[in-house]
Amino acid sequence: MSGKPDSRREEMLREMGIGPVWKLRTPEQGREHDGECEQSVESAVPVAREIDASPASHPPSPTGSGHEPASIAKMDWPALQASVASCVACGLYAKRNKTVFGVGDRNADWLFVGEGPGAEEDTQGEPFVGQAGVLLDNMLAAIDLKRGANVYIANIVKCRPPGNRNPQTEEAHACAPYLQRQIELIRPKLIVALGKVAAVNLLGRDASIASLRGEVHAYRGIPLIITYHPAYLLRTLPDKAKAWEDLCFAVSTMQRLQSGTAVAN
Ligand code: URA
Ligand code: SF4
Repeated sequence: MSGKPDSRREEMLREMGIGPVWKLRTPEQGREHDGECEQSVESAVPVAREIDASPASHPPSPTGSGHEPASIAKMDWPALQASVASCVACGLYAKRNKTVFGVGDRNADWLFVGEGPGAEEDTQGEPFVGQAGVLLDNMLAAIDLKRGANVYIANIVKCRPPGNRNPQTEEAHACAPYLQRQIELIRPKLIVALGKVAAVNLLGRDASIASLRGEVHAYRGIPLIITYHPAYLLRTLPDKAKAWEDLCFAVSTMQRLQSGTAVAN
């Protein structure tokens, strides 16, 4: 981005403990970016067709009062937001403080999907505002993105799993119609799944992040890239290099999508 001094970027990357690894170099494609990803990802695998492998059927809502998947599938933003705010479709409702709907640009090209709210998110009602959120914001900044500007951020579940445990399959399935509707309304060009819970639930099958990254998958026809969760990266230094590769791959994929050269096979 123009005007962002290199020193600030470097400082930021150092703070993340990834300065030397996430070092960018001179642009190759005329981007105003401070640099370009080190590895060429232009030869990336074409957009794979994995459409509709994603969970399509969900258990009926126990409430029977406008939280059924069929109703959710027709909602506009205000109705969707209200429905989430009053949802009791899974057990996570019981201990939540605030529901965490999602945040950002509703016309975004980029959608980042995490797992579920942590303590800070549960207090504030916004995704990724705790420690992992700081890293996510820095990851976004490293590829010239920021929360709210052409970026939407959401989670697989809208209510905090107690003790930050992973959401259970039933909880993720109960909540899926909300994310599905958000995605239909946003119509992002690219979805980036952050971590295994997001990956598994968006893909509708179990696999390791290691085996899923570096390829373009699809969620209901929308290109989907898988990378590590920022909270995991905070604990696992070596994989930060891989996360940076994944972000570079996402950037080059987005460039192809925006220029209309990415073809689903
Ligand atoms: N981790 C997530 O997956 N989502 C959040 O919103 C915060 C932390
Ligand atoms: Fe409803 Fe989702 Fe919260 Fe469960 S996690 S209560 S399905 S909003």
